[in-house]
Amino acid sequence: MNELQASLKIALANAFKMYFAAQQAHWNVEGPYFSQYHDFFGDIYTDVQSSIDDIAERIRITGAYAPSSLPMLLASSTIEDMPPAPASCRTLLIGLIAANQQMIASLNKAFEYAELARDQGLMDYLAGRLDVHKKHGWMLDASSKTLGEY
Ligand SMILES: [Fe+2]
Repeated sequence: MNELQASLKIALANAFKMYFAAQQAHWNVEGPYFSQYHDFFGDIYTDVQSSIDDIAERIRITGAYAPSSLPMLLASSTIEDMPPAPASCRTLLIGLIAANQQMIASLNKAFEYAELARDQGLMDYLAGRLDVHKKHGWMLDASSKTLGEY
């Protein structure tokens, strides 16, 4: 497995883990802002889930195999587990901000190797995903800025 393939495997594992982090936040969120955060986390997990198939297929296009079990897949992730439920909205937001930062770091790394390999199509794809995750980061950050507990 070359460095590009290895970096894509980390991006895939991070997308999978971030997808699940946002989905469980969508399920487990509680409090007066339930409806707002249920929908917000729903938008994030729907987007990130949609990237999983594409990233895995990009791995196959490079000639490597995608992970064939969940433990194998998750072993490559650099994203920490989310705090156990019940967790406050703010705790969920902070966990997703950290997950999103790791996602961006892994996409940037894969982009570097795609550039070295002069793979324009893959660079375009990764740049598009980076834009989407930067937007997630903005929205998560903006949502986390508050005074007091909630
Ligand atoms: Fe749902």
